[in-house]
Amino acid sequence: MNRSEDIDHMRRRLLLQGLAAGGALAVGLGPRAAQAQGGMMGGMMGGAQNVAAAGSGVFSRTLPVPPPLHGQADAQGVLHYALRAGSGHSELIGGVRTPTWGYNGALLGPTLRIPRGKPVQMHITNGLGVPTTLHWHGAQVPGKVDGGPHNLIAPGAVWAPAFTLGQPAGTLWYHPHPHTYTGPQVYAGLGGFLLIDDGEDARLGLPHTYGVDDLPLALQDRRLDASGHLVYMNRMPDMMGMKGDRFLVNGVEQPHAEVPAGWLRLRLLNASNERIYHLAVADGREFHVIAGDAGLLEQPVPLRSLLLAPAERAEIVVDLRREQGRSLVLRSDSGAVVPGLYSMPMPVDAYDRGRFDLLQLRVGAPSGLSARLPERLVPAPTPRADEPARGFVRNGMKGGGMMGMMGMMRGGSGGRAADGPGGMSMGIGGRDLFAIDGRYMRMNVIDVKTALGRTALWRVHNRSTMAHPFHVHGTSFLIRSRDGNAPPAHERGWKDVVLVRRGETVELLAPFHHRAGAAHPYMYHCHILEHEDNGMMGQFTVT
Ligand code: C2O
Ligand code: CU
Ligand code: CU
Repeated sequence: MNRSEDIDHMRRRLLLQGLAAGGALAVGLGPRAAQAQGGMMGGMMGGAQNVAAAGSGVFSRTLPVPPPLHGQADAQGVLHYALRAGSGHSELIGGVRTPTWGYNGALLGPTLRIPRGKPVQMHITNGLGVPTTLHWHGAQVPGKVDGGPHNLIAPGAVWAPAFTLGQPAGTLWYHPHPHTYTGPQVYAGLGGFLLIDDGEDARLGLPHTYGVDDLPLALQDRRLDASGHLVYMNRMPDMMGMKGDRFLVNGVEQPHAEVPAGWLRLRLLNASNERIYHLAVADGREFHVIAGDAGLLEQPVPLRSLLLAPAERAEIVVDLRREQGRSLVLRSDSGAVVPGLYSMPMPVDAYDRGRFDLLQLRVGAPSGLSARLPERLVPAPTPRADEPARGFVRNGMKGGGMMGMMGMMRGGSGGRAADGPGGMSMGIGGRDLFAIDGRYMRMNVIDVKTALGRTALWRVHNRSTMAHPFHVHGTSFLIRSRDGNAPPAHERGWKDVVLVRRGETVELLAPFHHRAGAAHPYMYHCHILEHEDNGMMGQFTVT
């Protein structure tokens, strides 16, 4: 593909999503959808006025904690969960009414609590006027029930997948995944936590009282117009990824939470479309990372700041035992301080604000709960690649490309050429904008075939000019190396998203325990949703 085809492709996508000159389209929903939604997210005038004057001040509102949903057991012991995607209005910013989408409510969704090893039956109703899907991000479930682009739920329809989560406890999430519309649907408010429970945290003595000393925090940024409507993709720089200038935690701008003096566990989820957070407590104190994307680490890792890319999760524990009566602020200081994240010059645009506050923690009396921070957590995972990696760069950077090349290779068992039946290789980017291996996502093309029950070694190489968070469905993987070195301690647990900085090569070990056939393949993609929607995604089978 050449440069002008790339730009054509991008333009087509942007038009589809509403970046029409002066357009007032319902973003990402198409004209038909725009009508059906009665102008939801419409009125995007392309104007730059924000509701900056509105809002009732920093930390004035209370952090909402999404209600837990435990599921209803039937006679067979199967747990049933019901979610309904629908629309409504929310107060993202104090005093401003914004049309939003949510599950079982106007915004975001309940926290699904799913016991490890228990059969579950989901009932997903599409109460939107447009097709959607619901993907269990991080869950090891068969391709058939993964909720990717092939599991489309028509307006009014119900999708009822059943599965059992056998993987370790972890902080997962769910979100829509319709091909080319994931960005706008998540931006409109769809998404929620999915916590797998196996009791290990309680046995270890970790804080685990939901909503008290164990808080889920979904971090998002949004942009609103003067009338309080969400604005999506109305400026050219947005095609690099949609950023906002208002910072929400669980759907509320800069809230506060009352927390007990003691050990506090925060389950951080970057549910933003594009933004990478560089998180810290404002006073610079140390905290401990106890879990990555998909499970506990071998031991708590002390840090003073933590990078969280889109779709990544981290669980941290903060020591508030001696902080009664004080307040702490969780903030992000992103971008410039971290090399390899963006192209130059920094910041890339006006919405790339360096430092901003997210959440205030007001420390009250001790709760009486006896949580602690154990020295050891869970045994370190040790998978090995079953097949030798003999990957190679398939599409070298030939120059002239705007984005450069992000290549991902996987050595085939036979060490054959990338295209050969015995070999596999993938590349991300090339001279193409937000493509993988020089190709854009096509619903009817399987890009890679992987073997069931084996551990694959995937090598991701980023030669583009920005960082990309790379995500793989159907597995939790381990980072084997970053540029040949062992990953930092807090990245040594199970993960399903890895931020690949520009110029970097990351090796992943990915065991595949479930089947995904050609009719319902798994996805691998960049989790910057505008890149994904633009086609920076590929499909693979596990058979
Ligand atoms: Cu979080 Cu393919 O998705
Ligand atoms: Cu996923
Ligand atoms: Cu990307």
